[in-house]
Amino acid sequence: MIGEMDAHSVAGYFRNKSILITGSTGFLGKVLVEKILRVQPDVKKLFLLIRAPDVESAKIRIQTEVTGREIFRVLKENHGAGFDNFIEEKICPLVGNIMKENFGLDNSQLKEFSKDIDIIINGAATTNFFERYDVFIACRVFTYSLQFSNE
Ligand SMILES: NC(=O)c1ccc[n+]([C@@H]2O[C@H](COP(=O)([O-])OP(=O)(O)OC[C@H]3O[C@@H](n4cnc5c(N)ncnc54)[C@H](OP(=O)(O)O)[C@@H]3O)[C@@H](O)[C@H]2O)c1
Repeated sequence: MIGEMDAHSVAGYFRNKSILITGSTGFLGKVLVEKILRVQPDVKKLFLLIRAPDVESAKIRIQTEVTGREIFRVLKENHGAGFDNFIEEKICPLVGNIMKENFGLDNSQLKEFSKDIDIIINGAATTNFFERYDVFIACRVFTYSLQFSNE
């Protein structure tokens, strides 16, 4: 009962909010994206930080590694022919890397997003325990923070 109420209040909190999510192509990240879009379709926007050379490649990664996966089947069935439009409206790809300062986002992007983003969920991390030590530590311990500014 209490768990059910909590789930409702979390979903309610996401209504009309914009969320920056890192690690969305990962095992847990895609589950998170699907769940938010399913339980709170009135979320305003999900900004997905993706490692890619450009926005087009980031879009393709999202399509093939996130929204095109079997886990999105129920959402696809629910939205029918409107699924692609729903995804287009809700998901905004951001090219970036958590190991770079400000996630590799440039100042104009940061300025724009600082107005829009209400919540940040950082799910990105290397989970390869044979990763080079400096990369592993940089990614898992010294992740850069975002310097949001309202100026
Ligand atoms: N899976 C579990 O059962 C579990 C349980 C407890 C805790 N966790 C923790 O939850 C987190 C996510 O786990 P997971 O299983 O989802 O991991 P995963 O499948 O290996 O996914 C890792 C995600 O992080 C992204 N990433 C890695 N380095 C990045 C960088 N420098 N910049 C931007 N994105 C980067 C990857 O992007 P690319 O696709 O570009 O590589 C991918 O989206 C980890 O901290 C893990 O330890 C996981």
